[in-house]
Amino acid sequence: MAKLKNATVFFCQECGYESVKWMGQCPGCKAWNTFVEERAGAGGKRATGNRKTGIDGQKAEPAKLSQVSMSKEDRIRTKIGELDRVLGGGIVPGSLTLVGGDPGIGKSTLLLQVCQKLENGGCQVLYISGEESLKQIKIRAERIGEFGDNLLLLCETNLDMIKETIYQIRPQAVVIDSIQTMYSEEVSAAPGSVSQVREATGVFLQIAKGLNVSIFIVGHVTKEGTVAGPRVLEHMVDTVLYFEGDRHASYRILRGVKNRFGSTNEIGVFEMREEGLAEVKNPSEFMLDGRPENANGSVVACSMEGTRPILIEIQALVCGSNFGIPRRQATGTDFNRVNLLMAVLEKRVGLPLSGCDAYVNLAGGIKITEPAIDLGIVMAIVSSYKNRMVDNRMLVFGEVGLSGEVRGVSMAGQRLQEAKKLGFTTCVMPAVCMKGLKNMDGIKVIGVKSVQDAIDLI
Ligand code: TYD
Ligand code: MG
Repeated sequence: MAKLKNATVFFCQECGYESVKWMGQCPGCKAWNTFVEERAGAGGKRATGNRKTGIDGQKAEPAKLSQVSMSKEDRIRTKIGELDRVLGGGIVPGSLTLVGGDPGIGKSTLLLQVCQKLENGGCQVLYISGEESLKQIKIRAERIGEFGDNLLLLCETNLDMIKETIYQIRPQAVVIDSIQTMYSEEVSAAPGSVSQVREATGVFLQIAKGLNVSIFIVGHVTKEGTVAGPRVLEHMVDTVLYFEGDRHASYRILRGVKNRFGSTNEIGVFEMREEGLAEVKNPSEFMLDGRPENANGSVVACSMEGTRPILIEIQALVCGSNFGIPRRQATGTDFNRVNLLMAVLEKRVGLPLSGCDAYVNLAGGIKITEPAIDLGIVMAIVSSYKNRMVDNRMLVFGEVGLSGEVRGVSMAGQRLQEAKKLGFTTCVMPAVCMKGLKNMDGIKVIGVKSVQDAIDLI
């Protein structure tokens, strides 16, 4: 369909769905009242116009794969170990990275710290802020530490100006804080709207690939937890990182949800301190800090986050319900999974839990969806229900199936090592995982085949 000049279209501000007429509900994401009228064409036309030639005005030539040189050393290490791990070993030159997260979680702080490390390492860095004044950035920088002269700050929201500056300075890394404040004069919509965000990202994509500069983009998130603006944004960039964590707790988790240059299941753990974010090298110790001694309903389970095992405390509180429909609540884990596990306990073990309220909480505010913590949840629930303690030097992991069987999980050996490292004396794991397990001295390993076997240990 040929687009009419000056025609307007309606965009869903949540997901970027495009429609020629206004609609109350978006067919794409089912959100209500999210359509906003925006002028079509301007941005799109320019983007395709540029694509015909390379960024320097030269025609791009096809190349053989063997001619393309790329070695591991090409990555720029930020020397923030937790971030390097999530990025897959460092920043890839010419990459576009989107960092999303709730307001106040520490996105600006993290990126300023990245700037500091890069700058100290001799890289030319440009930090562009559309949200804060130079003074405000300075105040934050003073908390973080020493900065040299390789870092340049710019307070600007006009895309053309920014583009010009980047071409002039030719830095090795650029930070854009945030994409929702950037605007192009060629697009009539307000900053932060779908077409502006898309246009701005397109421009940064061209700059990144053309100048081989690594660009970090900060993106605000909606209440649903996805980056505000169109989903398209996530498709356009190379890497998407989410910065999450409980605002009341001091630790923050950096999670990769998309990475063209590495694995996406790695996480980085940070702690927000007086002087900025500090790496947490041993998250298990951090998560188990402040665990109650000899309390019932508390079990330590193990989850693999990428290549790293993390021990977490699972707490459950089960009590009789005063209402017809019992209350169930899950914090940090999947609510439906908890319901399912309680149904398994009811049917396969015969515990009358349908008349009980149940609250399950992963201490520390961490979110884990790995099924390996199933057995931990089950044991915490039973421990609370029966008012019996679980040995607090005992680690539990395993997936629970619908017939009440305990199924194998991956990397049992690594989980066991982590338990040993933190001084656990007993480890309850699926019996199938015990085959070929090495290094079992110093810790008692109990293999269980069914939920009943595990409960008998309480
Ligand atoms: P900020 O990076 O501004 O968050 P975002 O850019 O994601 O909105 O982080 C702001 C919070 O971090 C603020 O509540 C104060 C806290 N903070 C510290 O506790 N210590 C510090 O050294 C800094 C710089 C910030
Ligand atoms: Mg900020």
